[in-house]
Amino acid sequence: MKTKYAIVFICIVALVIIEKESNILSRVSDKLTQMQTPLQTPQTPLDYSNATHNGSLTMLKMLLSKLTDTTGNSSNLSEEEEDMDELGSHGYAGGRKHILLLATTRTGSSFVGEFFNQHGENMFYLFEPLWHVERLLTMPIGNSSGTVLSGIYRDVLQALFLCDFSQLERFISPLPQEHVTPALFRRESSLSLCEESVCSPVIKDVFERYHCKTRRCGPLNLTLASESCLSKQHHAIKTVRVRQLETLQPLVEDPRLDVRVIQLVRDPRAILASRMVAFSDKYQTWKTWAQDGQVPEDDEEVKRLKGNCDNIRMSAEVGLSRPSWLRRRYMLVRYEDIARYPMQKAEEMYRFTGIPFSPQARDWILKNTQTTQEASGIYSTQKNSSEQAEKWRFNIPFTLAQVVQRVCGPTMKLFGYKFVDDEKMLINKSISLLEEKVFRLP
Ligand SMILES: *[C@@H]1O[C@H](CO)[C@@H](O)[C@H](O)[C@H]1NC(C)=O
Ligand SMILES: *[C@@H]1O[C@H](CO)[C@@H](O)[C@H](O)[C@H]1NC(C)=O
Ligand SMILES: *[C@@H]1O[C@H](CO)[C@@H](O)[C@H](O)[C@H]1NC(C)=O
Ligand SMILES: *[C@@H]1O[C@H](CO)[C@@H](O)[C@H](O)[C@H]1NC(C)=O
Ligand SMILES: *[C@@H]1O[C@H](CO)[C@@H](O)[C@H](O)[C@H]1NC(C)=O
Repeated sequence: MKTKYAIVFICIVALVIIEKESNILSRVSDKLTQMQTPLQTPQTPLDYSNATHNGSLTMLKMLLSKLTDTTGNSSNLSEEEEDMDELGSHGYAGGRKHILLLATTRTGSSFVGEFFNQHGENMFYLFEPLWHVERLLTMPIGNSSGTVLSGIYRDVLQALFLCDFSQLERFISPLPQEHVTPALFRRESSLSLCEESVCSPVIKDVFERYHCKTRRCGPLNLTLASESCLSKQHHAIKTVRVRQLETLQPLVEDPRLDVRVIQLVRDPRAILASRMVAFSDKYQTWKTWAQDGQVPEDDEEVKRLKGNCDNIRMSAEVGLSRPSWLRRRYMLVRYEDIARYPMQKAEEMYRFTGIPFSPQARDWILKNTQTTQEASGIYSTQKNSSEQAEKWRFNIPFTLAQVVQRVCGPTMKLFGYKFVDDEKMLINKSISLLEEKVFRLP
């Protein structure tokens, strides 16, 4: 009986290998520009979205699950593949990495994004490209369900990781002319979009504003951006707009990509306090409640807060439960830990991505976590980070902290944020609100 299974197993492994190669071959011819990538991603050989291989793959998958059910040997194949991934992620294959920094607003994501933006000439970094998509699709005339929106977010991210700007271009307003736009959101936040090679000449010097801080650049030529992207070893995108990690599964499983997801979280009480300052119009209701000391629990705003917290928690639960599609590809980081130990955390993140921690990134972090001088601007990343991380405790009244604790309780528990019992505890800096917590490294 056992030998029978062994023979069947060997046959299936052989089939998988054949399938894998034909998959790769067909893809190589499809995607000339990405030639090297599929060969370096042996851990995701089965592309279930590929219609041409659907039948045989489904059958194989079924057979495999049957076989492993009976023999109880389900980890054989995946462990083998994990080992191959391990080699890949340590650079033996010289593989391209795709880092997705997932966060929500006011979690320090601009700051953490800089860890990768500052990596050096081998990195192509994009700051919040989905801003354009959200703006176009959720404005008053827009009418997109969350599901549709998350599918579009995913497709735009996928294209961008492949250096294809055409998906994004459809959402830039006004529509780019000949792939040139003066309107890319926060272009200057991406070092790679302000390099010499991506910098087109300034024509009307007097009237035209420069689009980069570091040099005088005219509007962005997306063809040049794409060429620059293709020439870079690694790609990173920071976004605060993806709601559910789950929706990214097809992106993570794309065999042309080698995706690493870093989810950045922060104490929801701190997020609320920070948003009330940064988005003071939108958070007017909260500010009124802060003064009144009364919060109607069934208000839409409170429900929205709960919804946000639930999304963050559910995404983290998916990641931490280590489903096979995310194995070794997901890392959870608390902003508070980064604020306390920026260098150590940056090293951990780089180790996780498999990209060497560059001296440039190290220098940037040193410079930007040790300064005492307050920089201006709400999106500034130049702050004494450990001091900054605690400031919220004095900016939010206890009643609001209490509301957050009530609706975001499970989220706070999962990430190790301690509840406060009263105002005194909230503002007593010698009481830490942070549990020491290690989220399993992949
Ligand atoms: C692939 O197979 C699955 C399961 O049999 C089926 O639900 C799906 O519609 C198929 N997809 C295509 C593109 O044929
Ligand atoms: C959105 O579109 C759907 C159909 O596509 C329609 O039923 C619904 O009423 C629309 N919602 C709004 C707010 O316009
Ligand atoms: C953008 O750059 C491409 C590639 O160099 C070039 O062919 C194209 O003419 C540029 N577009 C414009 C409008 O200058
Ligand atoms: C940053 O703030 C922390 C907490 O207040 C303080 O201990 C530290 O000395 C500050 N660092 C610098 C370089 O000012
Ligand atoms: C702050 O908390 C510490 C530790 O619990 C306590 O010893 C101290 O008295 C508190 N300070 C104030 C001002 O309440």
